[in-house]
Amino acid sequence: MGLVTISRDELSGPIADVQARSWCAQLEAGDILYFPETPVRLRREDLAFLLGQQQTDSSLHKNIAYKPNSDKLSGVDRTTADAATVARLQEIMRAYSKHVVQFLTKFLSPYQARWRLDYASFRPQEEEGRDLSLRKRNDLLHTDAFPTRPTYGARILRFFNNIHPTRTRDWVVGDPFATVVKQFAPEQIAPVPDNTVSRAAKGLGRAVGLGAAIPSIKRSPYDDFMMRFHNFLKENARFQAECAKHPWQFPAGSSWMVYTDTVPHAVLAGQYALEQTLLVEPDALVAPETSPLKVLEEMAGTALV
Ligand code: SIN
Ligand code: FE
Repeated sequence: MGLVTISRDELSGPIADVQARSWCAQLEAGDILYFPETPVRLRREDLAFLLGQQQTDSSLHKNIAYKPNSDKLSGVDRTTADAATVARLQEIMRAYSKHVVQFLTKFLSPYQARWRLDYASFRPQEEEGRDLSLRKRNDLLHTDAFPTRPTYGARILRFFNNIHPTRTRDWVVGDPFATVVKQFAPEQIAPVPDNTVSRAAKGLGRAVGLGAAIPSIKRSPYDDFMMRFHNFLKENARFQAECAKHPWQFPAGSSWMVYTDTVPHAVLAGQYALEQTLLVEPDALVAPETSPLKVLEEMAGTALV
């Protein structure tokens, strides 16, 4: 697994279909697509505005989130931000989200936009030495799963911008999902067979701290596994110590994109990033047989959604 660099020149004209398919295939295989010069540039004044934002209470909210489907902004520290600031932030995030989608619709044309638009985020905090609870820490290698937003097999694709004026955003990346699952997944995180779903889902709900508090969230056995796997990786000292760690430093002004549900990743340092998440439908993939859903169903010998 590696880094695929895509230059500005490669994006200037129309993109050939074979090229677009190959980029999708590389993403699905666990590569990071890296754009030294971001194809999603912010206006100078918007960038300056974002760089001027200071969140004082970093423990309260992990990031500032923008929900494109409802046009809502959350996570802003209201003790320091007035209404005009919030409105401006929202406007910038709305434009960023639109711009990413516009770019990806063309760049990932084989997917034919068969994705659900998830949250975008603004990450103004310094990542080095952040004081977060273990399961929220992003400096430990992990695969992504959302406690309150099950995907039912859809893939989590994230597009990032390092908008810091000078500093790199420093990641480490592990081996692909199938390797890690087979190497580190012990019995207790093996997929739950279909017929025990409801009992298992309750137990797992408690295990991830959801309990009966949000009974309305229906998660598939696939989502249960992905959530437990996220927690397992962060909590497993042996995995953290022994897993492969490929360092990547993303320079100021660059973008990158990766399936974070399967590529173990951690951010060690950096400040000021933007990100947009897409949930790509399983049947839109160019190599569906390599998807985590298929890998796990093969291991479990049963359907998981
Ligand atoms: C993450 O998904 O772990 C966060 C990565 C980042 O903020 O750079
Ligand atoms: Fe993550």
